[in-house]
Amino acid sequence: MTALKACKILITGANRGLGLEIVKQLSEDSCQKHIFATCRDPDGSKSEALRELAKKHPNVITIIRLDADDPCSVKESAKKVGSLVGKNGLNLLVNNAAIVANGTVQTSSVEDMKNTFNTNVIGPLLIIREYLPYLQIAAKASGTPGMSCNKAAFINISTIAGSMTRIPSIYNQFPTLPYAVSKAGFNMLTVLAAEEIKADEILCMALHPGWVKTELGGDDATLEPKESVEGMLRVIGSLTEKQHGRFLDYTGETVPW
Ligand SMILES: NC(=O)c1ccc[n+]([C@@H]2O[C@H](COP(=O)([O-])OP(=O)(O)OC[C@H]3O[C@@H](n4cnc5c(N)ncnc54)[C@H](OP(=O)(O)O)[C@@H]3O)[C@@H](O)[C@H]2O)c1
Repeated sequence: MTALKACKILITGANRGLGLEIVKQLSEDSCQKHIFATCRDPDGSKSEALRELAKKHPNVITIIRLDADDPCSVKESAKKVGSLVGKNGLNLLVNNAAIVANGTVQTSSVEDMKNTFNTNVIGPLLIIREYLPYLQIAAKASGTPGMSCNKAAFINISTIAGSMTRIPSIYNQFPTLPYAVSKAGFNMLTVLAAEEIKADEILCMALHPGWVKTELGGDDATLEPKESVEGMLRVIGSLTEKQHGRFLDYTGETVPW
């Protein structure tokens, strides 16, 4: 299914939607790996499916609390994961958690603008910062030149709604200004993080999952989570330094910024 052989993987927003499907598909493939499935409320009712999955794969999945809106929670989660990964570090971090908010120039509330920026931009910024030391350890420990997700990588799950080129043609259908503006910020974060960490040979790129039937994508979406995640994992497994700082979709096509 996937060429991804990364040993230690962390996914944010792993309790439902695409995050949960990523954990499911990774835990079912035959490559030996450990998955840190993070979510903001591990004991809550919205995390029941993840707890069930972790019960099925007790040696593969560890559930960790991580609330992207709470800097202390991000720090604590990184400390905990850091103590668990050991001398080979963390290979792959998937920044997946996000919130959506609807609105236009005329209707977007200040609260929605702040909340989307907080969860979709500041959260991932802090996550990259706090987890970077463990990816640096993994990059050094790998002993192989170049970049790959098996070595060390940040994959930022973005959207064409955050693409300056693509959003005008879909804005009528998806008037989600707070979300689109925050994801454009997330795209810039991806480009700048890629620039800062390229000397460490840690890959960093943005990935659009397609329009997917999840709580965020809604029932009219064209893709099932299974198909989107199969595609994304195929792309993730194939990445090299050539895709560093780039924006691709789940089929591997380039998305214009
Ligand atoms: N579905 C689509 O059509 C589509 C299209 C383009 C891009 N995307 C991107 O794909 C990613 C996943 O989306 P999805 O469709 O799976 O959305 P979803 O079903 O709404 O799931 C969102 C996930 O993010 C988590 N989350 C929200 N705020 C959080 C916070 N402060 N801290 C930690 N976790 C938080 C949620 O946890 P709770 O249960 O605690 O709320 C949930 O696990 C997002 O980055 C989204 O922008 C999706």
